Amino acid sequence: MHEHEPLPWQPYPPLSDAERVARARAFGDSMRTRRSCRAFSEDSVPREVIEAALMAAGSAPSGANRQPWHFSVVASPEAKIAIRVAAEEEEQAFYGGRAGREWLEALAPLGTKADKPYLETAPWLIVVFAQRRNGMRAEDLQHNYYVTESVGIACGLLIAALHQAGIATLVHTPSPMRFLNRVCQRPETEKPVMIIVAGHAAPDATIPAHALDKKPLEQIASWL
Ligand SMILES: Cc1cc2nc3c(=O)[nH]c(=O)nc-3n(C[C@H](O)[C@H](O)[C@H](O)COP(=O)(O)O)c2cc1C
Repeated sequence: MHEHEPLPWQPYPPLSDAERVARARAFGDSMRTRRSCRAFSEDSVPREVIEAALMAAGSAPSGANRQPWHFSVVASPEAKIAIRVAAEEEEQAFYGGRAGREWLEALAPLGTKADKPYLETAPWLIVVFAQRRNGMRAEDLQHNYYVTESVGIACGLLIAALHQAGIATLVHTPSPMRFLNRVCQRPETEKPVMIIVAGHAAPDATIPAHALDKKPLEQIASWL
């Protein structure tokens, strides 16, 4: 066990309040231009971009600082095909009725279907795993805390970092997605959470108008 060791706070850059407002707005403006991309080109993205974005994700706060995430980064054509084939099999059953009427109705404005060619065309698939516990043996088994929340924050930072680098992304969640443990060779103690598809939008990519319909500030925040 590590004992508590206090270190001095590392000051953030000194800014005026006006500069803080401007920077917060500039970041918000930039993030509002992010859109889920469902048609990717085969154009490459340097591995260094993905590494830097993963470092941003890995800096996320996490319950008890356990950092309960693992990112399997897939670029090999064989692994991408394996993921596409398994995902489309699940998605065919999902869109064929397993999802239920209500879920399918909610998805209708997005125009998504069982075909997932982007799983092959996009240069990078980042498969995110949540680690409910660390260690395989009973004696060194360590439970993690607030795993879902922690992994969600890390994924948010990852998507934001990729967007800032000019990389298009899609969160893809085939349902169910246990096949990802097999393809990515991850232990059963890890739960696959999502695939973050990363690359460049295809020239003919479109977005569903529905995606632009975001709740206004008054609806998503209250002030006490
Ligand atoms: C947890 C989660 C799961 C998602 N799963 C899928 C998916 O499997 N396939 C897909 O096309 N989009 C998926 N999306 C993307 C959403 O449909 C998209 O974020 C939403 O329609 C809003 O559009 P925007 O991202 O362009 O703002 C998912 C998003 C999240 C956060």
